Amino acid sequence: MNKTFYVTTPIYYVNAEPHIGHAYSTILADFMHRFHIMLGYDSYFTTGTDEHGDKIAIAAAEKKTSPQEFADRISNIFSQTWTELGIKSSEFIRTTEDRHKKVVQEILQKVYNKGDIYFGSYGGNYCYGCERFLTEKEIVNGKCVEHNKEPQYIEEKNYFFKMSKYQGWLIDHINNNPDFIRPERYRNEVMSLLKSGALEDLCISRPTSRLTWGITLPFDDKYVTYVWFDALINYISALGYPDDERFNKYWPVSNHVIAKDIVKPHGIFWPTMLHAAGIPPYKHLNVHGYWNMDEAKMSKSLGNVVKPLELANKFGNDQIRYFFLREMTFGLDAKFNEEVVIDRINYDLANDLGNLIKRSFDMVAKYFDGKIPAFNSANPAGRDELISLFNNSAEGYVNHCVKFQTSVGLEKLWEFIRYLNKYIDENKPWQLFKDNNIKKLSSTMRNLLESIYNVAVLLSPVLIDTSRKIISDLQASQKSRHVKDLTGMNLLSTGEKLSEIGILFPRIEKDKIIKQDTKNKVKKDDKSIDNEEKIEKDKDEGLIDIKEFGKVDIRVAKILKASKIEGSNKLLQLEIDSGLDTRIIIAGIAEHYDTEYLIGRKILLVANLKPATIFKHKSTGMLLAAKNKDDGKLYLIEIDDAIPVGAKLG
Ligand code: ME8
Repeated sequence: MNKTFYVTTPIYYVNAEPHIGHAYSTILADFMHRFHIMLGYDSYFTTGTDEHGDKIAIAAAEKKTSPQEFADRISNIFSQTWTELGIKSSEFIRTTEDRHKKVVQEILQKVYNKGDIYFGSYGGNYCYGCERFLTEKEIVNGKCVEHNKEPQYIEEKNYFFKMSKYQGWLIDHINNNPDFIRPERYRNEVMSLLKSGALEDLCISRPTSRLTWGITLPFDDKYVTYVWFDALINYISALGYPDDERFNKYWPVSNHVIAKDIVKPHGIFWPTMLHAAGIPPYKHLNVHGYWNMDEAKMSKSLGNVVKPLELANKFGNDQIRYFFLREMTFGLDAKFNEEVVIDRINYDLANDLGNLIKRSFDMVAKYFDGKIPAFNSANPAGRDELISLFNNSAEGYVNHCVKFQTSVGLEKLWEFIRYLNKYIDENKPWQLFKDNNIKKLSSTMRNLLESIYNVAVLLSPVLIDTSRKIISDLQASQKSRHVKDLTGMNLLSTGEKLSEIGILFPRIEKDKIIKQDTKNKVKKDDKSIDNEEKIEKDKDEGLIDIKEFGKVDIRVAKILKASKIEGSNKLLQLEIDSGLDTRIIIAGIAEHYDTEYLIGRKILLVANLKPATIFKHKSTGMLLAAKNKDDGKLYLIEIDDAIPVGAKLG
C-alpha cells in the first residue's frame, strides 16, 4: 500500500487580495505535496478561502456589495493567483460551499449532543482583526498587539464550547507527541498558554441580531457560528468527512501549514474541537515565521504589501519558489526585499546551477557532437566519490525537507551542485580533450550529465518548469524519477542527442531593478559606514594589550562561493561558512586568486568586525591575508584541512 501524506494551508480571509505571505504558505504546501509525490507518496493538498464573519461583512459593506458577491470575487482572485503561480491543489475549499456548511453543522450537533456546548453570557474585548475575544495579555496600551487597534467591549448571550474540559487531555497529548507542533518554539508557546492558568471556554456563536453572515447553528437559528469554529473544520470538510474514503486515507497523516499569527486557534481550539467531536487530532502543526519588509511588518496600511503575481512576473515563477523555500529558515521570520531575491537568483540559480548545466551541455556539444557519451569504466573519473557525495546531499535534502526545513534541505543539495562545478574545474575536460584522453573525458561528461539529471529530479518540486526542461533536454522524460533509482547514476541513454539548453536563469542586474529610493538609502548607509570605519581606524593605531586582542574573534571559515564584483578589478564577493552562520564578505584579492581556486578553501576570518559596505556590497567580516612587500602579492592564510570550520583562534 502507498504511503500517504496530507498537507493544508490556512484558508485565507477574503477581505483582501493575496500577498506574498499567503503565497509563501501556499508555495510551501505545494512544494511539500509535490515533494512527497516525488518520494512515492499518495499525497493530497488543500487550500481555500475563509469567507464568513464580521471582517468580511464589514469589508463587503464598505464596498457596497453583498458579502457573497464580495467573497466570490476575492476567492476567485486567490484561486486564480495560485493557478498562475503553478500551484496545483487537490482541493480548493470555500466555507460558503454547502459541502462545508453541512459538516460544520454536523460537528456542532455532535458536540452539542455530547453536552460540550452550553448557553451563557459573556463580556469581553473583541478584536475584529483577530476575529476573537482577546485575553488581557494580548492587549497592550489598550490595543490588540497583533493589529494595533483598540478592541471593542462586547457583552451578549452566546453559546460556548467547553474547551476548558480538554485542557489536561491536550497537555498530555502534546507531551506524548513532542512533534505535534513544530518547530519547538511554537510547541512551547502553546504549552505555556495551556499551563498559564485555567483555559477559558470558547464562545462559538454570534447572535443574528448583530451578524447574519455565518453558518446557522443547527440547534438555534437565532445564532450563527463563530468564524473560527467554522473555518477550522475546512480541513476535514475538504476531505468529505465523515463518509468519504479520502477522510480515512488522509486525515491520519494531516500536516497543517500556518504562520505564527494563528498558533492559538490551531494549537488549542482545533485539537480540543476534534477531540470533543470524537475525531483524532491532526498529525502535525507546522508553523513558519513572518515575512517582514526589511524590518517592518507587511501591512496594507503601511503600503508595503507585495503582490505575488507582480513578483513572479518580474523574476519568474521558479525563481520565486526557490527564493521562498531557500530563504526562510523554518519557524523564523525572514526579511523580504528585492535585493535578497536577486542575490539568490544570481548566486544560486544563475551562477551555481545554471552555469553548471550550460557548461556541461556546451562541452558535450563541443566534444561529442551533443550526444550523451558512454561511461568508460577503464577511467571512471571519480564516479564513486561523486555517487557518495550525491547520496549524502540527497539524503540531507530529503531528511530536512520532510520536516519542512526546506532552507537547510536546499543548502544540502547545493553542496552537491557546487561540488559539480568544482568537479569540472578539477577534471578540466578541455585539457582531457586536448590530450586526447577520451576515456576520462567520456566518463567525466557522462558523470556530469547523470548528476544533472539527478539534481533536476530532486528539484522538480521546487523548479517546476525548469526541472521539466532540463529533463526533457537530456532526453530523459521517460526515465525513472524514483529517488531510489537515482543512486545508480546510470539512467540516461548513451548516444541520445541533447537539446539546446540555452540560459536557464539569466543574471539580473540589480541596479536596473532596484528602485531609486533603495539606491539612495544604500548611498546614505555607505556614508555612515565610511565614517564608522574611519573612527575604528583612528582607534586601532598604536599598541594593544591582550584584553584588546581577545576582543577579536578570529576563526576558521570555509569559502562556499566566490564571484567577481562588477566594475571592480580588485574585489571578490565571497560566501563563507563561518561555523556560526553563512555570510558574505568582500575581499580585495581578485588580482591574486581565481574564484575557482577559492571555492572550498579554508581561511581565517575576523568574525566580529563591524559590517561595512564596500562598493555597494555589504561585508560582514574580513579574511586574513599577508602581503609580500617585494611584489605586492597577497597570500591567504590557509588552514590545514584537519581544523574544523568555526574553530576559534586564540
Ligand atoms: O488567519 N508572512 O487568514 P489570513 C508569512 N482565515 N505568512 C503570512 C504573512 C506574512 N507576513 N501574512 C499572512 C486567517 N501569512 C484565517 C485562517 S485557517 C482555518 C483560518 C499567511 O488571510 C500565513 O499562512 O489572515 C498566515 O497564517 C495566514 O497567511 C493568515 O491568513
